[in-house]
Amino acid sequence: MCTDREPRRIAAMFGRIAPRYDFMNRLMTAGLDRRWRRLAAAEAALAPGQGALDVCCGTGDLAFALAERWPRVDVVGLDFTTEMLERARQKAARRRGGAGHSHPGGGGRAPTFVHGDVLALPFADHTFAAVTVGWGVRNVPDLPRALAEMARVTRPGGRLVCLESTRPPEGFGRRFHRVWFDKVVPALGRAVAGEGCAYEYLPASVRDFPDADALAALMADAGLVRVRYRRLGFGAVALHVAEKP
Ligand SMILES: C[S@@+](CC[C@H](N)C(=O)[O-])C[C@H]1O[C@@H](n2cnc3c(N)ncnc32)[C@H](O)[C@@H]1O
Repeated sequence: MCTDREPRRIAAMFGRIAPRYDFMNRLMTAGLDRRWRRLAAAEAALAPGQGALDVCCGTGDLAFALAERWPRVDVVGLDFTTEMLERARQKAARRRGGAGHSHPGGGGRAPTFVHGDVLALPFADHTFAAVTVGWGVRNVPDLPRALAEMARVTRPGGRLVCLESTRPPEGFGRRFHRVWFDKVVPALGRAVAGEGCAYEYLPASVRDFPDADALAALMADAGLVRVRYRRLGFGAVALHVAEKP
């Protein structure tokens, strides 16, 4: 049951963990998740006046990282869990501070957030100069279709950037990962978020997910070119970047 990827169950699970989601991210990664999102945002390589889409945006942290890194870019975040979107919108309202659309910190425009499914994106072909996803595609029941949808709405010459948990290569990283991710994280999830199931789902979904090379191959199958990736966090996170021809 904890490993079920049926969309309504996934949305219900993320709805339950939404109130503690950001706090759990900081705890599980010792705060490194923010740095990883900044690195992903930098890879979007946007220019003023362009648009970016962050799918599976959750509480919006990658969308905010994009808006801060690329001022004068219009960023849209999309997710299918209402409770996550509510938190993203609350953060956007706080950042606007009631004064126009600028960020107090980065000077960028606050993102807008829309409800939608990454498997059927409500946008025309070639809409965005960059499409990003952070810890999202691992949750979808049809990964090739999700990648095809993200590629479809990306403009020719635009980028797709994917930040995702992955199995580290053999060695210290994998041994540490087995203990931290498989044992400590579910215990933290039970104790801190009151949600053992969601945080058992997390390591199980990483085990079931294609490894970093296989994900790169699937991106190429989706028609993307110059696919590359680098590992972060002792190899437990992969940052893939690809371009639409
Ligand atoms: C682990 S969270 C990641 C949130 C955010 N991107 C981040 O960096 O923290 C995964 C998110 O993907 C969303 N999600 C899962 N499947 C989806 C789908 N098919 N369409 C849209 N959102 C989806 C969930 O609602 C959840 O908010």
